[in-house]
Amino acid sequence: ETKYLIVDKNVDSSSVYTQAVDFLNSGEVVAFPTETVYGLGAVATDEEAVQKIFTAKGRPSDNPLIVHLHNKEQAKEYVTAISEVAQKCMDAFWPGPLTLIIEAKPNVFAANVQAGLSTVGLRVPNHPVALRLLEEIKKPLAAPSANRSGKPSPTKAEHVAEDMTNRIACILDGGITGVGLESTVLDVTVTPPVILRPGGVTKEMLEKVIGTVIQPTNNEQESAEAPKAPGMKYTHYAPEAPVVLIEPTIEKVQQAIEQLQAEGHRVALLASESFAESKANYFFTYGKDGNVKEMSVALYDALRACDKTDATIILATTTAHVGVGVAIMNRLEKAAGGAWHTNNSEN
Ligand code: TXA
Ligand code: MG
Repeated sequence: ETKYLIVDKNVDSSSVYTQAVDFLNSGEVVAFPTETVYGLGAVATDEEAVQKIFTAKGRPSDNPLIVHLHNKEQAKEYVTAISEVAQKCMDAFWPGPLTLIIEAKPNVFAANVQAGLSTVGLRVPNHPVALRLLEEIKKPLAAPSANRSGKPSPTKAEHVAEDMTNRIACILDGGITGVGLESTVLDVTVTPPVILRPGGVTKEMLEKVIGTVIQPTNNEQESAEAPKAPGMKYTHYAPEAPVVLIEPTIEKVQQAIEQLQAEGHRVALLASESFAESKANYFFTYGKDGNVKEMSVALYDALRACDKTDATIILATTTAHVGVGVAIMNRLEKAAGGAWHTNNSEN
């Protein structure tokens, strides 16, 4: 039995938080909204509770979890040192969608949180429900995204319920999340710092605050021998039907739909509003043309919506690798396993 609790900012939610805190303190897992995606939380010092996260997700045990704090002052209790670069990042972007990889003090978290690494990923989420939960429990919460491993991350409590009902104790429903993509993961143990996962805090935003930042391309990341963010080596964000990518031009998309349908496919198209009139069997919109914010918010919901249809292939239009577009393309390229639509007549 999973308890599903709605947190409505217009009504007194005290009893909801009391119940959630009780579950967490008794070693159970509680899903909660953050500004990026929903997280699957457990007390980060409770090894058995953290193990329940791995089990509920079906997550490989060598993939470490992000620890969520209530405020930046707490960070110093858990890490060996806060460098000038780390401090600047905390001051500029916390609370917010930036995870910092820092050398952890030994034995401050349950061993499975860091999955054997000496570092830990820390962040302060910018969401009223996450912040109130952290404030009331007064303990750090380990929380990966609240999806089954390999599935698109949840941006709505309904997505969490799809993946986690009867697998965890409680789901806090705080509505749709704001950013829609997971946090930027920045390794500040190296100079210059390296973006291990692109997200809502972009390279450009970081460089204004701390100077040069390295952002490996998806290809560079995939060919790296030992992936620095262990999670990046697994298949990710993938719906059931195969995803193929295509540039967002009306003619290319229409031609691709015709070709795929001629091959016997039922096509789900993911694209901006101006593609609504296409002949695809199903259409899910990213929002207004060229609006990467709307695209981020809509992406995972749209991928999950495709799975509710009988589409046999998902044609997803791309965006430029600029700003937040880098994070969107990172997720799309992983969802597609690198597959782009190729025009038969050109082969
Ligand atoms: O927005 C987010 O970051 C969401 C919300 C819930 O906070 N959380 C999230 O967690 O996306 P998860 O576990 O799905 O992704 C964490 C990523 C993984 O790729 C993991 O390998 C990497 O961060 N990571 C965690 N700790 C690390 C560490 N010590 N060193 C390198 N990478 C680490
Ligand atoms: Mg995840």
